[in-house]
Amino acid sequence: MEKIIRDNIFQQAIKWIYEASSMIREKMNDPLHIETKSNPNDLVTEIDQATEKFFVNKIRSTYPNHFILGEEGFGDSLDNLTGTVWIIDPIDGTTNFVHQKSNFAISIGIYYNGVGEIGLIYDVKRDVLYHAKKGEGAYKNKVKLTPLKRDLTLEKSIIGMNHFWLCHNRLVDEKVMEKFVRTVRGTRSYGSAALEFAYIAEGILDAYLTLNLAPWDIAAGIVIVNEVGGVTTTIDGESVHMLKQSPILTCNPAIQEIIIKNYITKGRKVT
Ligand code: IPD
Ligand code: CA
Ligand code: CA
Ligand code: CA
Repeated sequence: MEKIIRDNIFQQAIKWIYEASSMIREKMNDPLHIETKSNPNDLVTEIDQATEKFFVNKIRSTYPNHFILGEEGFGDSLDNLTGTVWIIDPIDGTTNFVHQKSNFAISIGIYYNGVGEIGLIYDVKRDVLYHAKKGEGAYKNKVKLTPLKRDLTLEKSIIGMNHFWLCHNRLVDEKVMEKFVRTVRGTRSYGSAALEFAYIAEGILDAYLTLNLAPWDIAAGIVIVNEVGGVTTTIDGESVHMLKQSPILTCNPAIQEIIIKNYITKGRKVT
């Protein structure tokens, strides 16, 4: 993508993120209309939907030849990533949004012919924007994030993961994962994939391991994490398919191999 075009899209996207976040802040303390999707704990509110619609309307009127992939379904249904594609999670961390009114983010990844060009993750409550353009570094607000330290060991690592890894699951043996959590320095579970990616880029989490994520959960995060030398793959170390759901590992490269080889591969169940 040409720099001048990318810079224009980047500025426009940031402006819309701030506008959308003002609307979210205005309405978030009113009674919410909450519905469930695939199961009783899979929540969506009218604010998730209105926020996605807001971006879709802006993009369609400003860039009519761009495509949109959005969690709440107001975008396009795509079977390839040709052209410019906005991959949008209007509110990542809806459960946190509903229950805590914090720890949620707007996440937008902008891809050109399948390559991540722009990543934007905005922590609405804290007013922190993580952003990156491919090849130009990653930023937390105006501060440039530093490359991830390469002398890290697993024993000194903080890992983002949730309790489902220690429950019976279809992917990895729970006993192997028990050894894993006993080996690392600590685990954390923030409930927003986008923010967990941002924390990897910031170097305050060293790996984030997750059983199943969708493109809108990771599209922005991948671009931001890449810019500080972080790596994102499936939990088996394969490249991520941006139109499919997959189990994901994003981390400091110093601990990628040991996590995959000594834990995931050892405990992998045949699916
Ligand atoms: C969810 C959050 C959560 C992750 C789920 C996602 P949503 O996104 O990122 O942390 O564990 O897998 O679906 O539904 O709140 O946008
Ligand atoms: Ca959701
Ligand atoms: Ca999400
Ligand atoms: Ca969402």
